[in-house]
Amino acid sequence: MDRTEILAADDSGVARAADLIRAGRLVAFPTETVYGLGGDATDDRAVAGIFAAKGRPQFNPLIVHVPDLAAAERVGVFDDRARNVALAFWPGPLTLVLPMRGDAGISPLVTAGLGSVAIRVPAHPLARALLRAVGRPVAAPSANPSGRVSPTRADHVIDGLEGRIAAVMDGGACAVGVESTILGLDGPPALLRPGGIPAEALEAALGHPLASGGDAARPSAPGQLASHYAPGAAVRLGAHGAETGEILIGFGPVKGDLSLSQSGDLVEAAAALFHILRQADLLAGPTGRIAFAPIPEQGLGRAINDRLRRAAAPR
Ligand code: TXA
Ligand code: MG
Repeated sequence: MDRTEILAADDSGVARAADLIRAGRLVAFPTETVYGLGGDATDDRAVAGIFAAKGRPQFNPLIVHVPDLAAAERVGVFDDRARNVALAFWPGPLTLVLPMRGDAGISPLVTAGLGSVAIRVPAHPLARALLRAVGRPVAAPSANPSGRVSPTRADHVIDGLEGRIAAVMDGGACAVGVESTILGLDGPPALLRPGGIPAEALEAALGHPLASGGDAARPSAPGQLASHYAPGAAVRLGAHGAETGEILIGFGPVKGDLSLSQSGDLVEAAAALFHILRQADLLAGPTGRIAFAPIPEQGLGRAINDRLRRAAAPR
């Protein structure tokens, strides 16, 4: 394939990205969580190209991105409960899994043959401008080779996918830094993936605790496999100090070679997580080891710990 174009974060960049997607090509674009690899969700060939570019297993369905609730209601079946959650948290880092409409027009590859569909309305202004300009639902997984660390900067996308996708729109660093929270509403509400909206906020909006659906052995979000976000180096969690040869990533009082947040701020830590994981991987080298300080299991800490457990999982 040709070189991957780098598009500026302006009107001409958005117009070029939209033209490419409408022509069936793949374009990475920034969202507030991570960079997505966008393709026309109604075009079988474009969607097949997303799986091929990432090396992603076909049983792992994609999230459909739309600019607003009205467009979302043309894809998924919303009841009052779903509409209320959407009104409270969209645009933003929340994905809803809903029954798919019969007339949604989404390629069956997007949903991996499930009767449900994952829908998200991102808040990033460039993502919203792009989705409006495309005028069709856009399927977008994180823009990284399958199983590797998600990209939060345009150069992370280039590192993993250069030459395999038509373009990347450079919108700088992503503000949230971990992927969207996935809430299953195709049955009893279930937290399918912790992410950028803390589960506590969803529970407050729903008025009851959420069942957790992210069991790695029988994943209800099929992409939630145990090993993911894998750097080259081995990863150890809950470290209060470095062992010989380890790169230590600190948090709060645990000082390290690098720190997710010296002040112990979970929002700052989530935004830094994937970039620091890449930096630590470079410092450690392929046979090296990375240790992470403990992160509290609350708020965005649940999403951070979920990603770290997958980064540390046996592969
Ligand atoms: O923040 C995000 O959500 C980013 C940005 C680009 O929007 N996207 C993202 O996509 O994280 P991806 O492909 O890396 O993760 C999508 C997750 C997978 O775990 C997949 O299994 C799950 O969504 N998923 C998609 N459709 C589903 C469905 N119908 N039922 C259950 N899980 C689903
Ligand atoms: Mg991903």
